[in-house]
Amino acid sequence: MERLDKIIAATGRWSRREAAQLIRTGRVTVDGAVVTEREAKFSSEAAFVVDGIPISGEKYTYLMLHKPPGLVSATDDPRQPTVLSLLPEHLQRIDLFPAGRLDKDTVGLLLLTNDGPLAHALLSPAHHVDKRYLVRVEGVLDEADAAAFRSGMILPDGLHCLPAGLEILAPDEALITLHEGKYHQIKRMCEARGKPVTFLKRLTFGPLSLDESLEPGRWRPLTEAELTALKRAGSTG
Ligand code: URA
Repeated sequence: MERLDKIIAATGRWSRREAAQLIRTGRVTVDGAVVTEREAKFSSEAAFVVDGIPISGEKYTYLMLHKPPGLVSATDDPRQPTVLSLLPEHLQRIDLFPAGRLDKDTVGLLLLTNDGPLAHALLSPAHHVDKRYLVRVEGVLDEADAAAFRSGMILPDGLHCLPAGLEILAPDEALITLHEGKYHQIKRMCEARGKPVTFLKRLTFGPLSLDESLEPGRWRPLTEAELTALKRAGSTG
């Protein structure tokens, strides 16, 4: 059981203060009845409606962030700003963390959640959740690079990579699809081909695609459809 204002704020759409205001002014119903007490407690199974629109009573929060360069994918860091610094204060206090890491200079889709079990399932090697990246490199990509990616590279430091996709879009630009996520993986794979990465942007994470209407640095809650697809990916893989 959770307080109503907390349940509403946990959607990521309203602050606690805004949620309290919605409740006080009679704009929230739970299981069909108007509730005006912000402290009233409900199970997340109840049907929550704000201004006639159903919202999920998820106990967890799920946000899509368009990560800009210059921030680290961590919850706190003694020296550098983290991706969480982009969120309003009320969302910095609900234990969100990035599900998977993007390097400081990498941009694009990052899932922020406090659903530990789902994040763990999505990131576990057994699930092979696909991630697609747009990459630019120094040098000219060719069919030999695509063949090397396809066959599963062994890097000079001994790292065995699963077969990966490399679709060449321009001489120095490609879409790379990984079925795993090892440390600096794309940079290391491209470096091993003698074509160092100059730009890297994650476009997809499992069933999620970066919402291109989100400017770098902006975020939004996942839609119900995105969340359903994500949970399916986490349960089956
Ligand atoms: N591969 C990398 O090298 N860096 C990232 O941020 C993601 C994938």
